[in-house]
Amino acid sequence: MIKPHGGSLINRVNTELDHDPTKEQIQLDAIALSDLELVATGAFSPLTGFMVSEDYQSVVHHMRLSSGLPWSIPITLPVKDEEIQQINIGDTVNLVYEDIVYGVMEVRDIYTPNKEEEAKHIYQTTDLKHPGVKKLMERPTSYLGGPITLIQYPKKEQFHTFHLTPSQTREVFQRLGWQTIVGFQTRNPVHRAHEYIQKTALETVDGLLLHPLVGETKAGDIPSDLRMECYQILLENYYPTNRVFLSVFPAAMRYAGPREAIFHAIVRKNYGCTHFIVGRDHAGVGDYYGTYDAQIIFDHFTEEEIGIQILCFENSFYCRKCESMGTSKTCPHDESHHISLSGTKVRAMLREGVLPPKEFSRPEVAVKLIEGMTKPLVETGEF
Ligand code: ADX
Repeated sequence: MIKPHGGSLINRVNTELDHDPTKEQIQLDAIALSDLELVATGAFSPLTGFMVSEDYQSVVHHMRLSSGLPWSIPITLPVKDEEIQQINIGDTVNLVYEDIVYGVMEVRDIYTPNKEEEAKHIYQTTDLKHPGVKKLMERPTSYLGGPITLIQYPKKEQFHTFHLTPSQTREVFQRLGWQTIVGFQTRNPVHRAHEYIQKTALETVDGLLLHPLVGETKAGDIPSDLRMECYQILLENYYPTNRVFLSVFPAAMRYAGPREAIFHAIVRKNYGCTHFIVGRDHAGVGDYYGTYDAQIIFDHFTEEEIGIQILCFENSFYCRKCESMGTSKTCPHDESHHISLSGTKVRAMLREGVLPPKEFSRPEVAVKLIEGMTKPLVETGEF
């Protein structure tokens, strides 16, 4: 089994731990709650808590923890000024979300980040239209750092059987006898291009971990419950079920493109994957990143440092002349023969009840999306 990042899988879960209700309370937002869980279960190994400023600065400027280990996304706990004033280094604080104490933290550092700098380095922009930058700027202005303990798992209201910790996915892979596993990150319904790159990878490895991100995403992205239905429909109809394992990744989406690709890869190594797919504009949004920047960024590190093999794929499409999926590496025909639709265009079609071409999306999936996308949008009053 592949070694976790930094050598060992972190476990900071202790549901037996009695917290002291008289200690100061720190209010978590949805991102901090998911980060708390992911640190505790070892998904973010070797992190043992929210970053202290030494690690934070090193990650922002050098894409490494202060130990030198590659790490590309700050995992921070932003805290409101009125809460900070009550807290001193050395305190133990309770980490609270919607009146429930989910964890405790030993405060090792209290610091004020330079968010402009964070945005420039992590997102390559300070534009507030970027959803990651917007979120960064909306969150409180001071950070607390220190080791955490999760004392209660966040509730899993949906698809709870698909929530597996890294030690659980590792056990599954062992039970299945898979030596080589390719991890696939996604925040979208799986379309034919995704399917093509997954299956191309599956030709050379033992199994696929389909690992959709189900934490906070931006408005306009397709909700995770609907996506989960689509993944299951797709797997039942088009995949060899004994070679695919579907589980969810309860992290928030950062939309940090290249930086997030490194993070996504390292975290999937912690879940036991030996390979990780990075395609076109991985974790990108708008035009903030070059199409292959998320692949090129891995050149900053040696293969040993990253420790999981990155499988890079070019933009994939259906070619009418080839009558198959391909990329510019395998298809000689020009773009006029290719079926490529933007995410925005497809979402607009689905909302109108129009089926995208079957060469773009499997019809069973598109039908489910149409069903799902009209109902909740009306119910949530988006129109
Ligand atoms: S992401 O934000 O999670 O990266 P998405 O779910 O669309 O978005 O992509 C999942 C993975 O598939 C990423 O590695 C992405 O680069 C890759 N990908 C998406 N569409 C294509 C495509 N047409 N060709 C090649 N790779 C793609």
